[in-house]
Amino acid sequence: MLLPHLISFLLISLLHLSTAAAPSAYEVLRSHGLPIGLLPKGVREFEVDGGGRFRARLDAPCTAKFESEVRYNATLAGTISPGQIAALSGVSAQDLFLWFPVLAIRLDDNASGIIHFDVGVVDKRLPLSLFEFPPDCTPLSFSPQYKLDQDVDGKAAT
Ligand SMILES: *[C@@H]1O[C@H](CO)[C@@H](O)[C@H](O)[C@H]1NC(C)=O
Ligand SMILES: *[C@@H]1O[C@H](CO)[C@@H](O)[C@H](O)[C@H]1NC(C)=O
Repeated sequence: MLLPHLISFLLISLLHLSTAAAPSAYEVLRSHGLPIGLLPKGVREFEVDGGGRFRARLDAPCTAKFESEVRYNATLAGTISPGQIAALSGVSAQDLFLWFPVLAIRLDDNASGIIHFDVGVVDKRLPLSLFEFPPDCTPLSFSPQYKLDQDVDGKAAT
C-alpha cells in the first residue's frame, strides 16, 4: 500500500519540478546581457527576486579553469542588473597563487569584449570570449581522490 503512494508522490514531485516556470540561472544571465559561462555547469537551484537578488546552489564547491582558476562555493549569491553582478559572494579567483573573493563582475562599457572582475585590490580584465559556455567544474573535495583512482587504474591496465 505504501509503495504505490510513494511512487506516485515521487512522480508528482518530478512533474512539479520539470514544469516549474522559473527561468534558469543561464537564462537570467543572458537576459541581463551577461555571458552564461560566468556560472559553471551543474547549477541545481536558482532563485531571483524582483530586485535582482539571486541565490544559486551547486552540487558541491568546485573549481573551473578559465585563463586562471575560479572557485565556486556551493552557495552563490549576488544582485544582478543589466551588464553586471554586484554584492557577489561565493566566487573567488586566483591571481598570483592567491585566492581573492570576487566582489562584483561587470561588462566593459564600450562593447570592448572585456569583462571586469572586481577582486577588491585589483580589477581583473578578462576577455568575454572565455565565458561563452558554462565551464566544467571540478568538485574540490573529489579532485585528489579522482587523481588517485586514475593512477590506480593506469597501473592495473598495464
Ligand atoms: C566560501 O565559503 C566559505 C566557507 O563557508 C567562506 O569562508 C568563504 O568566504 C566563501 N567564499 C566566498 C568568496 O564567498
Ligand atoms: C570607453 O569609452 C570611454 C569614453 O568614450 C573612454 O574614455 C574609455 O577609455 C573607453 N574604455 C575602454 C576600455 O576602451
